[in-house]
Amino acid sequence: MRKRDEDLRSMLAARRRHTRVFAVTSGKGGVGKTHIAANLAVVWSQAGFRVIAVDLDLGVGNLDLLMGIEAPYNLSHVINGGTFRAAHCVAEDPTRAEGPPLSDSATGSGAPCVGEKFFSNLFSHALAVKSIKEVMVSGPAGVLVVPGANGFEHIANLDLKERQHLMQSLMELDGLADILILDTGAGIHENVMKFCRMADDIVVVAMAEPTSVAAAYSTIKLITAHPKHGRVHLLVNKGDDERSSMKVAEGLAAICKQYLELDLNLLGWVKDDNVVVESMKTQIPYTLFDEKADASRCLRRAVQNIFPPVVKAGGQAGTDAPGASPSAG
Ligand SMILES: Nc1ncnc2c1ncn2[C@@H]1O[C@H](COP(=O)(O)OP(=O)(O)OP(=O)(O)O)[C@@H](O)[C@H]1O
Ligand SMILES: [Mg+2]
Repeated sequence: MRKRDEDLRSMLAARRRHTRVFAVTSGKGGVGKTHIAANLAVVWSQAGFRVIAVDLDLGVGNLDLLMGIEAPYNLSHVINGGTFRAAHCVAEDPTRAEGPPLSDSATGSGAPCVGEKFFSNLFSHALAVKSIKEVMVSGPAGVLVVPGANGFEHIANLDLKERQHLMQSLMELDGLADILILDTGAGIHENVMKFCRMADDIVVVAMAEPTSVAAAYSTIKLITAHPKHGRVHLLVNKGDDERSSMKVAEGLAAICKQYLELDLNLLGWVKDDNVVVESMKTQIPYTLFDEKADASRCLRRAVQNIFPPVVKAGGQAGTDAPGASPSAG
């Protein structure tokens, strides 16, 4: 299995063209990854880059909500509508093991299985199989968004074939954007690690508290266990102030240097700011909702520390008050 993964990775690497891939991840959940992913996408799109943001928090993603998007299709249609359907039909029918074959697209033919009508009504769109380009929709500031596959346990536990199909689908986006942002789930799930390993840059988001930092370290350790990992960046989110946030970041960087021989790139911090909650109510990413808010200014400043800089000639990224501390910092 490992060999097949390696082959796939080499094949994908060989096919890559111009798109720089960022994975946004964390050790612990709820640290603000999706907000960071959405707002990185907005900031870079405003700077003139073509940006695609993909919700890869399989099963529980919410990037579409944060970006105010209502889309008819999502990644569940890409991953495999047929598998999805079969899984649900089996779950509905306790006699399935001895029963008649599943009908139509799931198996080819046969009588309708128990619950089929219910699910086909409820998830009528979910039965369609789409390409990743077909499910992509236009979002705020011109960002293109691939909405996540939510609420399906099956999707959260992809088998090898499905994951390979998903990764190949992601590669179909290569060349369509300058920047591809992958909002991953939290933790060390195999899916998350695969997505991080296909990225050129991995933005690890952590909060300035011991459990979050410890989980971030575990995640970084696993990501960097692979010899061909991308650049690893750290962003401290929901910080009280710059000094305490950066102290935590520097502490983690020192540990990474000592035990992993890794030069963690410190992007900075984003303030714990009520504007984030307010922006969520309107489903507008906070950098658009209030560009002068502390959180927005922090994020724009952090963007400048992505090295080598993601700055397009004539673009705005990197011109937003370098070194300017948010007032509350
Ligand atoms: N800078 C911030 N200031 C205040 N609240 C924030 C900030 N960033 C995120 N939050 C809040 O933290 C919560 C979690 O945010 P978000 O959904 O982005 O985290 P996540 O890491 O993607 O979570 P999950 O692991 O569940 O995917 C949300 O309620 C959000 O409003
Ligand atoms: Mg999230």
